[in-house]
Amino acid sequence: MKYVERLLKETEYLQLVKELEQTEADRIFCKHGLSHLLDVARIGWILALERGQEGAEKPGEPLKEKIYLTALLHDLGRLAEVKSGMPHHRAGAALAGELLIRIQYPREEQRDILAAISEHRGEKEAFEFSLEYMDEQKLNKDFINLIKEADNRSRNCFCCNAGAQCNWSKERKNQGIFW
Ligand SMILES: [Fe+2]
Ligand SMILES: [Fe+2]
Repeated sequence: MKYVERLLKETEYLQLVKELEQTEADRIFCKHGLSHLLDVARIGWILALERGQEGAEKPGEPLKEKIYLTALLHDLGRLAEVKSGMPHHRAGAALAGELLIRIQYPREEQRDILAAISEHRGEKEAFEFSLEYMDEQKLNKDFINLIKEADNRSRNCFCCNAGAQCNWSKERKNQGIFW
């Protein structure tokens, strides 16, 4: 997990997560701090193991690291969303792209991570920062869906004090612990 270790040593990354936690301290809806990021990572890896996703048969190998990196990076755009209104999946993909380059994550693997971040809210968006990423055929749909599902399953909508004010659809709200 050398890339995850590198990410956790990136001062900018740690500052962004801390600032995000401070910004959302009083938020009544789902938060996007480190606990959430790790929930998504762990649930994503459990789902991959349980479903025998390609690559999951090799614990500690690239798929696990890719899931963890994606989860740790997927909501970084929340700060930009709060400040400027830019949707956080879009702002987050740009930030994640910069950090993946900085930790020297293999370029050919970056596409899956950036695609999963861009699509984790279920809104299909073309990447704006590289035409290469817009090639539909190259997208790893299983990976994108895994992250989207792990993100959704990490939310305890079945026991939420803000449920009545939440604008998530009934279908999107997570109603269980097992799936
Ligand atoms: Fe998100
Ligand atoms: Fe999330």
